[in-house]
Amino acid sequence: MKTTISLSAPAQLETESLVAIVLDHSEKDHSEKDHSEKGDKNKDAKPHLRVESNDAAVQSAAAELLASGELTGKPFEINLLHKPAGLKAKRILLLSGGKAKKFAAYDLRRLAGAAVRALKSRGIRSFAFVAPSAIPADEAVRAIVEGALVGNFDADYYRSDRKDQKIDALTILTSGNTDKAALEKAAAEAQIIGESQNFTRDLVNEPSNRMTPTILAERAKKMSAEVGLKCEVYGADKIKELKMGAFWGVAQGSDEPPALIIMRYEPAGAPEKPVLGLVGKGITFDTGGISIKPADGMEKMKYDMAGGATMIGAMRAIALLKPKVKVIGIVCATENMPSGKAQKPGDVQIAMSGKSIEIINTDAEGRLVLADGLHYAKQLGCTHLVDAATLTGAVVVALGYTNAGLFANDDAIYERFNKATGKAGEKMWRLPLDDEYKENIKSGIADIVNSGGRWGGAISAAMFLKEFAEDTPWIHLDIAGTAWMEDQKPWIAKGPTGIALRSLVEFVKSYATTDKP
Ligand code: BES
Ligand code: MN
Ligand code: ZN
Repeated sequence: MKTTISLSAPAQLETESLVAIVLDHSEKDHSEKDHSEKGDKNKDAKPHLRVESNDAAVQSAAAELLASGELTGKPFEINLLHKPAGLKAKRILLLSGGKAKKFAAYDLRRLAGAAVRALKSRGIRSFAFVAPSAIPADEAVRAIVEGALVGNFDADYYRSDRKDQKIDALTILTSGNTDKAALEKAAAEAQIIGESQNFTRDLVNEPSNRMTPTILAERAKKMSAEVGLKCEVYGADKIKELKMGAFWGVAQGSDEPPALIIMRYEPAGAPEKPVLGLVGKGITFDTGGISIKPADGMEKMKYDMAGGATMIGAMRAIALLKPKVKVIGIVCATENMPSGKAQKPGDVQIAMSGKSIEIINTDAEGRLVLADGLHYAKQLGCTHLVDAATLTGAVVVALGYTNAGLFANDDAIYERFNKATGKAGEKMWRLPLDDEYKENIKSGIADIVNSGGRWGGAISAAMFLKEFAEDTPWIHLDIAGTAWMEDQKPWIAKGPTGIALRSLVEFVKSYATTDKP
């Protein structure tokens, strides 16, 4: 998708379609309680709709529809007008964004995705988006480009009747005294991020017969060569030589060889420290192992490598954006299979750090591969760690499909990461890691168990990982509920989401040193 910034008046632009946002400026939220005497009247309050453009011609083209009383103004309501009077555009798509006072870049990003999905399904290949003035121009450009790219992705890759409809060209119309060069830079950066997110989604979307650990490693290598990252891939021998007993314990049951993928970004001029370590769970298929999962829904476990794919995509974006900070990406990739060679409940494995682990449930495999991934990252010199993993069903029980679970062993790194998620427009919610929860992972025979029982399962898993992050500032993202959309939404297709990539990139950028004195 080609992106252009234009300062021309929306009415003067020849395009397949203009897209403009309609916001509801009525004072009270219909859902808010009103304690004033006039409160009852508010119940029937009509939305007060205004199209977000200073262009008088755009306003008058929309005026009749907005005054008709036919619109609710609720988010994602769509109206497509043909041959709008006074505009050179062939069509204008009016897209409702909900309440004006709540409208933020987060909403704009989704609306851009919704515009793409609405137009491409109608066979339209290019359009122009009128950036709403309610949001600072550079923020708006980022949100529109990222959202449009997310909306442009479809997962139905192997359907023989796949239409592969895509938007090829997006023009963003900004008004006012804007610095065009700065906006073009914002658009180019957003393009890198959006494309990297879709790169991750492509990896996650592949079924396990087409995305083995070996293939995942090859894809990481190819990408690394393209963007100038160093990439090493180690197999079973090296994993055993490094004494990664937890990782190998999972890998030993599979005929597919495992892969330890290491991507290094070491830009010239970056300080020695910090070194950021991004560690991803790369289970290309999770049967559960000997503690086998029920058949119902097991097909979804092809996305159990989403954390790893996110780190590979994040490294791509980082290599192209070139922040001055060292970053190492590590992906522990293997299948989790039952077989005559597979580890069994009750087995004890010795992790690379020397900690002994009693395997209670072979389906708690993600924390095992990450234990060695995190320890190895520290050995390679990482001073700060972030891991991402589709780690627990329990995080889905706790937070549903809306927020990813976020854990931190350090408040400062949490604050920094939380800022990054806000900028990136991704929802994550912090869960606790109190010492009391350590009870959950006590073992009678070894240092810890790999499965802490039924209650607080996402926390037990995080407590397990904390044993390996130790004192290094560390963030753990449990993306089991957010890495895959169960249903399509106006702004995104059903399937892989690429969650966490944008936050990771913002987080890394926050450590970058600048050339300025
Ligand atoms: N990959 C699963 C977690 C998962 C569940 C991811 C749903 C995506 C959607 C993980 O390896 C797993 O099986 N976790 C177990 C842990 C339990 C055995 C302690 C779980 O959550 O049931
Ligand atoms: Mn599992
Ligand atoms: Zn798993």
